[in-house]
Amino acid sequence: MENVFVFDHPLIQHKISLMRDKRTTTKEFRELVNEVAMLMAYEVTRDMPLKEVEIETPVAIARTRVLAGKKLALVPILRAGLGMVDGMLSLIPMAKVGHIGLYRDPKTLEPVEYYCKLPDDIEEREIVVLDPMLATGGSASAAISFLKKKGINSIKFMCLIAAPEGIERLHNDHPDVPIFCAAQDDRLNDHAYIVPGLGDAGDRLFGTK
Ligand code: PRP
Ligand code: URA
Repeated sequence: MENVFVFDHPLIQHKISLMRDKRTTTKEFRELVNEVAMLMAYEVTRDMPLKEVEIETPVAIARTRVLAGKKLALVPILRAGLGMVDGMLSLIPMAKVGHIGLYRDPKTLEPVEYYCKLPDDIEEREIVVLDPMLATGGSASAAISFLKKKGINSIKFMCLIAAPEGIERLHNDHPDVPIFCAAQDDRLNDHAYIVPGLGDAGDRLFGTK
């Protein structure tokens, strides 16, 4: 599908496999989410514009390139998106971070918003929305609609595992938003969990179950 990018880098694939294993501890899971987010940051920022500058090296003047264009803001969807922030920041330390709190109502499966705090200059920034799981797509789509209502139009979505149902929903609701994921899984089960997936990402990150 257009605008959907699945990263097949061997390091990413290896680490995602370790995360799927139910024997992986909370500590290991958290470290792996961090590492995969860092590896994905490298790919997600591939299209960042550059400009030429002159820099004086100890030997001569170098005509060389530095980042130009808009600065970034990361917007993790609470809770589980938090696990991806540090990995991204280790490559993009100047990014600002906004937070959107959503949880999926277990009965209706609809996202419920409970928190939002965004940087003041967010309209001037390129946004990467972070959430490890794209299941029905309800949470990601609601978070992105919310950002668009605030006048933000330059948005990417980055997750670890995506279900086909979530990709389709997000793509239909927001065709302008590229989706970056580390793996595309088979389907959702009756509880809208991704199969085979890795279980509840928030619980595995924070040890709540
Ligand atoms: C999980 C996950 C996503 C959402 C995905 O969060 O982190 O935000 O479910 O499901 P969807 O695509 O069907 O909306 P959850 O609601 O379990 O909250 P948590 O992060 O606080 O655990
Ligand atoms: N949220 C999760 O954390 N895992 C799933 O499989 C689906 C939604």
